[in-house]
Amino acid sequence: MEAAKRRYKDLEVKTFVIEEDDNTAPWSPEQFKQELGIRILRDLRQGSLELRPLPDAALRLADLARDPDPSIEDAVAVLERDPALASRVLKLAASPAMSRRPPADLSQAALTVGVHQLRDMAFAVASGRVFRAPGLDDEVQQEHRHSFQVGVATAEVFKRMGIGSKQGFLVGMLHDIGALLLYSALSQYGRETPEFLEPAFINRARQTLHAALGEAVIRSWGLSETVRAGARYHHHPTDAGALSQVALAVSVADYAAKLEATGEDDRAAQLGQHAPLYAAGLNASDAAAIARAVDSASEG
Ligand SMILES: [Fe+2]
Ligand SMILES: [Fe+2]
Repeated sequence: MEAAKRRYKDLEVKTFVIEEDDNTAPWSPEQFKQELGIRILRDLRQGSLELRPLPDAALRLADLARDPDPSIEDAVAVLERDPALASRVLKLAASPAMSRRPPADLSQAALTVGVHQLRDMAFAVASGRVFRAPGLDDEVQQEHRHSFQVGVATAEVFKRMGIGSKQGFLVGMLHDIGALLLYSALSQYGRETPEFLEPAFINRARQTLHAALGEAVIRSWGLSETVRAGARYHHHPTDAGALSQVALAVSVADYAAKLEATGEDDRAAQLGQHAPLYAAGLNASDAAAIARAVDSASEG
């Protein structure tokens, strides 16, 4: 029991690595954002948020990926030590959003995507369990549904925009991860200060903080720049510099997923009215394919 507890604690400390510098995350000048955002990052850094640790295998994979020339065999071996995580990563690798030809096994998947994307995939599947927010279960569930839809849609948008990276699904899936961190924090703070749980407060906090918090999470996990840019800039793609096309792709996918539509055709028609679609170099037939992707993801 004692050993298990210590192990949990050790891992928990490693779940997030927030640098002192992150205090200066680019919040807007509003006090509200600064105070709550800084409090959440500080609690994250000090390990005082009640989060579940990341699986050991994901952390080891991240370690391996830091090697300048990481070994694929080692990465597969690390993942295989956690059969539950390995099978979920393989399932993700085999999903139509990730690949046209599903890999036969983990080794094949790793050979196709490489160690870095394997790491990102392990974090993406593991991340769903890290953040717990008792009392905000509906919000959390809604985020998971939205993230999956945006993941599938972003993969489609990447393809249509000719963005070479195969990370579209991951980038989309993790774009709002900051909201999950926010809900975990608010659920905890709300036990002492119920105002934190008022729907209007939650909404406002989500709107103003989720992108910066998401970036902090992704940076602390050491995930790829593409994933980081998607989370940080999907509401302001032009601020993303060299990765503005990535951020624009996520923003189009996000918009498509959030439309209240009566069906695929209605979604395509509404998306066809959205100027950023054309800024991304896409057209009405792309809109139809993106709408189809969103709706296919809603069924499953
Ligand atoms: Fe967002
Ligand atoms: Fe979103």
